[in-house]
Amino acid sequence: MSKALGYRAFGGPEVLEFFDRPDPSPGPSEVLVRVAAAGVNPLDHVLREGLIPAMNGHVPFPQVLGMEAAGTVLAVGDDVSGLAVGDRVAGLALTFAGTYAETTLLLGAATTRVPDGVPETWAATIPVAGTTALDVLDQLGLPAGASLLVNGIGGGVGIAVAQLARDRGLVVTGTASAGKRELVTGTGARFVDYAGGDVVERLRALAPDGFDGVVDTVGGESLRAVAAVAAAPEALVSVGDPSVAELGGVPVRRRLERAGIERVAALMAGGRLDPHVTGVYPLARAQEALALVESRHAVGKVVIDPRL
Ligand SMILES: NC(=O)c1ccc[n+]([C@@H]2O[C@H](COP(=O)([O-])OP(=O)(O)OC[C@H]3O[C@@H](n4cnc5c(N)ncnc54)[C@H](OP(=O)(O)O)[C@@H]3O)[C@@H](O)[C@H]2O)c1
Repeated sequence: MSKALGYRAFGGPEVLEFFDRPDPSPGPSEVLVRVAAAGVNPLDHVLREGLIPAMNGHVPFPQVLGMEAAGTVLAVGDDVSGLAVGDRVAGLALTFAGTYAETTLLLGAATTRVPDGVPETWAATIPVAGTTALDVLDQLGLPAGASLLVNGIGGGVGIAVAQLARDRGLVVTGTASAGKRELVTGTGARFVDYAGGDVVERLRALAPDGFDGVVDTVGGESLRAVAAVAAAPEALVSVGDPSVAELGGVPVRRRLERAGIERVAALMAGGRLDPHVTGVYPLARAQEALALVESRHAVGKVVIDPRL
């Protein structure tokens, strides 16, 4: 049996409860993993609330929180190649087994070995935020020297986009709240406080012809505001708000496959990406970790370490 945090009905934080479950057995395309770290993402509370029925409306209760993890392989499904028992891995739990747990099932096709030197607490942030950053930059395909605005640069996706963009030679500007100034400038990006007066006017002053690319991680009114500073409508990509299409922009196209996780892991191993893990919570306090992310103002990434 292993401990897990989940819910027996959709709702707010009050529906969360711990329960014991038998170790799930891997299907042909899955791997069973002892979780060393689970990434906490905004999607987790969105799914808890039942806001995307197409994703988890069909999943039986109790549902366990969490879509990504790093850990050690305990068993490998028959159709999974390239992974063996004992490997240190990171991957996506598109299996919906949930990763706020001592053990989970990851999807073999979206799981890879973690290079030596990359701690599990970092590796657990790759499958969702890390590869989203990779996908959005590949999608924009900007050349070195181009200008990039990251709206919401101080969160999990934003801080990864900032570093991977700099690595590609882009000139990065980012919006965040005042407390994140040092975090942002530490990546080499220009910092713009989104609460310090007319943000669009100040962004226009920095890029009078518009930014060659704009990556939005915030959505809503904030997305609508920064749309005005994209050099062209199609240069605007949102990772979280599909209504970007109404502005002429495009949602991020996600690839959800092993190759992207491998690429980001290699960048981490090479010292080119620090996910800025600012909170590591034991499983017993996973609700606090989720509440922090649900506040929409977490710094960098928050992870759960069930070994604590
Ligand atoms: N499509 C996908 O596969 C995919 C993958 C990952 C994430 N996402 C989505 O992308 C979004 C971001 O994810 P995340 O993991 O980066 O979330 P996160 O870590 O919570 O970061 C969100 C950031 O938004 C900032 N923010 C809030 N209001 C803002 C405003 N008005 N202007 C500028 N920044 C603002 C916050 O920073 P401050 O504290 O500075 O306000 C926070 O750092 C979520 O909607 C998530 O569901 C989608």
